[in-house]
Amino acid sequence: MHDIVSKTDLRTGMLERRAIMTPEERATAGRSLRDALLSVPEIEMAGTIAAYVSIGTEPDTGSLLFALWKRGAYVLLPRLLPDGDLDWASYEGPDSLTPGPRGCPEPTEPPRGTGAVASADVVLAPAVAIDRTGMRLGRGGGSYDRALARVGPAILTVGLVYDSELVDELPAEPHDQRVRAAATPSGGLVRFG
Ligand SMILES: Nc1ncnc2c1ncn2[C@@H]1O[C@H](COP(=O)(O)OP(=O)(O)OP(=O)(O)O)[C@@H](O)[C@H]1O
Ligand SMILES: [Mg+2]
Repeated sequence: MHDIVSKTDLRTGMLERRAIMTPEERATAGRSLRDALLSVPEIEMAGTIAAYVSIGTEPDTGSLLFALWKRGAYVLLPRLLPDGDLDWASYEGPDSLTPGPRGCPEPTEPPRGTGAVASADVVLAPAVAIDRTGMRLGRGGGSYDRALARVGPAILTVGLVYDSELVDELPAEPHDQRVRAAATPSGGLVRFG
């Protein structure tokens, strides 16, 4: 219970910091993350990449998705299911997105099932904070805890955060899944373990 309360407080504090960033700061961060991620060897080599469409104050992933798609990667994007789990469908360019159940842009292509994330060579995940062991704090739905649990041990999983969101330590519950790297605008890809 202690961990659950502190996770909620942490999440609120991190999101408040995001809210006071300017649109220019967010856009700059998104460009830096895009450039860093596009040159990661596993991402350059990847046939299939599971990614996500950024929303609100998240670092922008729009130009990253477009660049991955343009260079020929098969990009899978999540579709939120009623129970909070994630289904996956392919990204076919900016016009292939439509608002999902909570207003987040989602792919209009046929869904491939919750297990489709296991076919990705790299998985990019949103995060509110990541610690030095790869422990990840998300929005509190447990969606990515479920999705990341289906990803094989050799697959690069990357959480995208702003610089100050790579922190020393986060609370961990048994269901929490770590990411194997974080990407930050200034630090690029930071691998764990
Ligand atoms: N495999 C699972 N099946 C069902 N519920 C789960 C599973 N994993 C986690 N949850 C539930 O999700 C809820 C939120 O978990 P948590 O606070 O770790 O979210 P989060 O990691 O911040 O969110 P997300 O993974 O969506 O980014 C918890 O109540 C947890 O029990
Ligand atoms: Mg979690």
